[in-house]
Amino acid sequence: MACGAENISVQMNQQSLSVHGGLQVEQFSGRQDRGTRAHTERVRTIARCIAERMGLSDEELAAIEIGALLHDVGKIGVTDAILRKPGPLEREEYEQIREHPAKGRHLLGSIACLEGAIPCVLHHHERFDGLGYPARLAGRDIPLPVRIISVADAFDAMTSDRPYRRPMPVRAALAELRRGAGRQFDPEVVQAFLWVWRRGRLAFLLEREAQPPRGSALAPLRGLVDSPHQVAHEIA
Ligand SMILES: [Fe+2]
Repeated sequence: MACGAENISVQMNQQSLSVHGGLQVEQFSGRQDRGTRAHTERVRTIARCIAERMGLSDEELAAIEIGALLHDVGKIGVTDAILRKPGPLEREEYEQIREHPAKGRHLLGSIACLEGAIPCVLHHHERFDGLGYPARLAGRDIPLPVRIISVADAFDAMTSDRPYRRPMPVRAALAELRRGAGRQFDPEVVQAFLWVWRRGRLAFLLEREAQPPRGSALAPLRGLVDSPHQVAHEIA
């Protein structure tokens, strides 16, 4: 049984993650603020644009969208006091954040139709050079959908306003991606992102306040595509 991204998006907007009535994780979107939901929607859109550029199949595109929506689901196991802490994290707090991929994997483990999203949830903080976590996977041992979500997540995180810092200018974020190619990021994925960016397909990110999260981004997403110092909280 497979779950579509449409299903998940709709259910999340109803303040619960409900998959075919089999499981409800009400804390997830119930605890997500508007900014977090908007972030996951943007990561979904960016990741899909990259994946389309790289020629992934429709099935892979669907898996990437679901993985992007759920990649941080494990953060429901981290307190808001830590997630929103304006200052530097204590070591124990940082360790709690580093557990969110494993918590997310555990959360999705019993949902058969979301099995395809588990690699994205568990491995989205791995690095191309093998210095990430939790498994220290490197290079192509990291599944391609995960490498794509990693770039999408990093770009949106860098250019987003957070309680503990101001957003990074887009020009600086693009430079960070280039600098991280081959180290944190898959260079081919960075190239695909830059190709998409140069063609203006992600220009809406510059007007994010005018683009509230939608229940389903698929329709506007298709229209979009058819027309022509990362911080420790997030990547460490
Ligand atoms: Fe994460």
